[in-house]
Amino acid sequence: MTLRAIVTGGGQGIGAEIVRGLVAAGYWVGVLDQNAAAAESLVTELGSSEVLPVDVSDQSAVANAIQGFGTLNLLVNNAGIVRFGPLLDQSADDIASVIEVNLIGTINCAQSAARAMAAQNGGVIINMSSVNAVHPAPNVGIYAATKAAITSLTQLQALEWGPLGIRVNAVAPGFIDAGMSAPIFLDDNVRAKRSGGVPLKRLGTAEDVVQAVLFLASDASGYIHGHELVVDGGVIQSVLAHLPRS
Ligand SMILES: NC(=O)c1ccc[n+]([C@@H]2O[C@H](COP(=O)([O-])OP(=O)(O)OC[C@H]3O[C@@H](n4cnc5c(N)ncnc54)[C@H](O)[C@@H]3O)[C@@H](O)[C@H]2O)c1
Repeated sequence: MTLRAIVTGGGQGIGAEIVRGLVAAGYWVGVLDQNAAAAESLVTELGSSEVLPVDVSDQSAVANAIQGFGTLNLLVNNAGIVRFGPLLDQSADDIASVIEVNLIGTINCAQSAARAMAAQNGGVIINMSSVNAVHPAPNVGIYAATKAAITSLTQLQALEWGPLGIRVNAVAPGFIDAGMSAPIFLDDNVRAKRSGGVPLKRLGTAEDVVQAVLFLASDASGYIHGHELVVDGGVIQSVLAHLPRS
């Protein structure tokens, strides 16, 4: 039986690599993205997939798309945005739009997926968090707060939906050289400093995140539930390593 997954924000960046990884692993994938053109081009390239042209913050559109998709074994709740800049400079629109996509969008998709899965044979949900959920970086506005909320949401979903046969976990990527962070690492100086500050001495790749998603989607992680899997080369453990010592 072909397993069926939906990847939100699957049209580009890390989401697109997750779509590639799932298709390679034998899944049929719904690429749910508001950027229909990006999703179309990926689906044309890969086959074994279809486009769900939806804005995750639109609750009824999400519900219709997920209901119309049919059997759903896996949701990768990956769509997310950031508005870079100091918190003092964030506009009301910056704050509202990041909450709408990252938090409300994540809730919308998880709720609709869980309803579908509960009516079927259960399933797996993976929410995309960030190391910002653990240690907020400066100049990412409200982004870190939305990711911390996703950590809490994952724990609640695990409690309420585990008994329905739905296994829920989160992935928290660190400095990933892809997607929304790729422009940061175009600066060689920043790239050297950031990768030098990671205990494994390199930036992460989208493929590092894909491998974590494939593990949490698989039966190999069958007793892991309500967990946030940090994929960061050890960077959030390294705070004390960056302080001077005589
Ligand atoms: N890139 C990193 O370094 C990094 C690190 C930690 C966590 N993350 C998380 O990984 C996830 C993917 O990030 P990325 O770097 O690939 O970003 P990206 O900007 O490259 O891709 C995001 C995708 O989400 C889609 N999207 C945005 N708003 C949407 C909406 N309202 N409805 C539907 N689709 C929407 C976009 O069209 C795009 O295809 C995000 O949740 C992000 O917070 C990324």
